[in-house]
Amino acid sequence: MEVVIVPDAKTGGELIAEAIARLLRRNPAAVLGVATGSTPLPVYQALAAMVRSGAVDVSRARVAQLDEYVGLPADHPESYRSVLGREVLEPLGLDKKAFLGPDGSASDVPAACEAYEAALEAAGGVDLQLLGIGSDGHIGFNEPCSSLASRTRIKTLTEQTRIDNARFFDGDIAQVPHHVITQGIGTILRARHLVLLATGAAKAAAVAASVEGPVAAVCPASALQLHPHATVVVDEAAAAGLNFADYFRQTYADKPAWQGL
Ligand code: F6R
Repeated sequence: MEVVIVPDAKTGGELIAEAIARLLRRNPAAVLGVATGSTPLPVYQALAAMVRSGAVDVSRARVAQLDEYVGLPADHPESYRSVLGREVLEPLGLDKKAFLGPDGSASDVPAACEAYEAALEAAGGVDLQLLGIGSDGHIGFNEPCSSLASRTRIKTLTEQTRIDNARFFDGDIAQVPHHVITQGIGTILRARHLVLLATGAAKAAAVAASVEGPVAAVCPASALQLHPHATVVVDEAAAAGLNFADYFRQTYADKPAWQGL
């Protein structure tokens, strides 16, 4: 696992956007796995700026959703489909046809999960999966004690995650759904490159446990240790609990530029 410590969220966003641009130059029809929440916004902003300046062509890229609330209509402003439309598709100038995601309002949720797994497979799999991390170590909405081999399925959010996400629902936890469809940890591990971005002191303990702790279902992000190409980009505040921070800094400073992330 490579850990890159950056001074701030904006720098992290630019670094990851550059990695996405490099991927798209190699493979213009790449499948980009995208996360929602606050953390990835600097990535999407930096990528949109590169599209506007002509530094990258995303016109053939496809965008795959990581997770979705169960029970919110697709056109609800806080459904992750709507959020990703606003934050990723529109700024990148991508059509809805480029989007892959599970149907959170399906009456048959297990069938919707299976259909999404099949759609990812048919698209050739995810080339680069961008991840955030919950303060409890979740990735996607795989809460603690999720199977490390899990596939796309329904999960129940912890009370803490619902409290954390209430800010998107007028601060009213009662409006935050209890259930979600999420790519499983086993599904996420099939992506060819995992890039986790974590910023802010509230993520420091989860980052330390994921990077330097044991691989354990109690900390879902620790599964990244099992992936042959996993990159963790953290700002100084999120890196505060890392014992190997100096080693990670030195390794990245000495890295040949041609390697990219
Ligand atoms: C959402 C997702 C979650 C978030 C995590 C952190 O699609 O995958 O794992 O990445 O809850 O959220 P923020 O970035 O808002 O702190």
